Amino acid sequence: MPQQIFPARTVNGAVSLPGDKSISHRYAMLAAIAEGATKIHNYSTGADCQSTLGCVRSLGIEVEKIPGKVTIHGKGAAGLREPAEMLDAGNSGSTIRMLSGILAAQGFTCRIGGDESLSRRPMDRIMKPLTEMGAAFEAHQGRFPPLTIHGRTLHPIEYTLPMASAQVKTCVLFGGLFGEGTTTVHEPVRTRDHSELALREFGADIDVVRRTITLRGPAHLQARELTVPGDLSSAAFFLVAALILPGSSLTIHGVGLNPTRSALLDFLAGMGAPTKVLELSQTGGELIGDILIRNTRAKGGVLEKEQTAALIDEIPVLAVLGAISENGLVVRDAAELRVKETDRIATVAENFRRMGVEITVQPDGFEIPGKQKFHAAELDSFGDHRIAMAFSVAALAADGPSTIENAEAASVSFPEFYDTLRRIAE
Ligand code: S3P
Repeated sequence: MPQQIFPARTVNGAVSLPGDKSISHRYAMLAAIAEGATKIHNYSTGADCQSTLGCVRSLGIEVEKIPGKVTIHGKGAAGLREPAEMLDAGNSGSTIRMLSGILAAQGFTCRIGGDESLSRRPMDRIMKPLTEMGAAFEAHQGRFPPLTIHGRTLHPIEYTLPMASAQVKTCVLFGGLFGEGTTTVHEPVRTRDHSELALREFGADIDVVRRTITLRGPAHLQARELTVPGDLSSAAFFLVAALILPGSSLTIHGVGLNPTRSALLDFLAGMGAPTKVLELSQTGGELIGDILIRNTRAKGGVLEKEQTAALIDEIPVLAVLGAISENGLVVRDAAELRVKETDRIATVAENFRRMGVEITVQPDGFEIPGKQKFHAAELDSFGDHRIAMAFSVAALAADGPSTIENAEAASVSFPEFYDTLRRIAE
């Protein structure tokens, strides 16, 4: 369904966000194999995290949902049941990749797949370590979903991640929960550490020294009561909206500020657009706080190496900011963008072309000159939630009303996005 987005002068007021997508997935998966009832407050309302709950249910675990709270009645490490049908991960790469670590250790064979976009995403990155641990797989063309996973008794491995991927790290650690002995993962680049924090919360025996994680199995996880912080990757759309519309001022409440996720705030500060953090506290080992932002003219920036990996989900909306900034944005070392929900280098470039915005594309990045004007256009999410939201924000600064085709894709992570945007746009 298309959405019409009208230009706005400013964004003003306060917003709350759905629970963090990354953390919600992890809590639900670990709750399913923990002993007892885990209560999760502020579980993400996004479709991706509902896909995880659907898979957990299909594995024989009772899930109760009331607005604002999910309760998962875990049955311990041996409590999952062989699903009657193929598990449906929907659009969610996190669901299929991280849950596979658990599925690979079960005493049954099962299948897991998803929508058309998911069916184009590479799974060899998780099949390789899990095969090394003892599991067996069949996959479309050897590396794409749907996957058939033959569960086995897994044995621990020492694994160096070949790419910066928290999903792959998590999948190996989740498999390691079932093995007898120590599973070790080395990360070449530090990625989000929600799994390490969540595993500790559920009682796993885990250590982190610099970029090496060790986990001793088998684990006996215990149910917990947990609160998911708001999703900083969703906050990014509103932060950029405030920075591209003069006179804007926003408060974003209860946002997750885990240091392995908050590179966005450092990068904005480096662009000359500082944010203020208030009311900092901790929940489940995760930092949480309120963010205040006021419009300032962003200077521009260069995103490369580890910083690219740390900001990978925010790049589409940073591209929008880059085009309006003084000096533009250069993104390098971002080949991973090509294998997200869409090829995000191509889908950002296509929407910019439609808005009359200049961009030069490389195989692993792009360059966007600054001080550009956005022209109203017929835009398209191409089925990608972050493209839908990034270009809705761009459309606020256009010279007339724009439309976003396939706008409903936003509900993958943020079903309340358009209502929230309309409420704060003036
Ligand atoms: C995620 C890790 C990142 C990120 C994705 C969520 C996670 O993917 O892009 O949206 O929750 O671990 P990769 O692990 O593929 O980098």
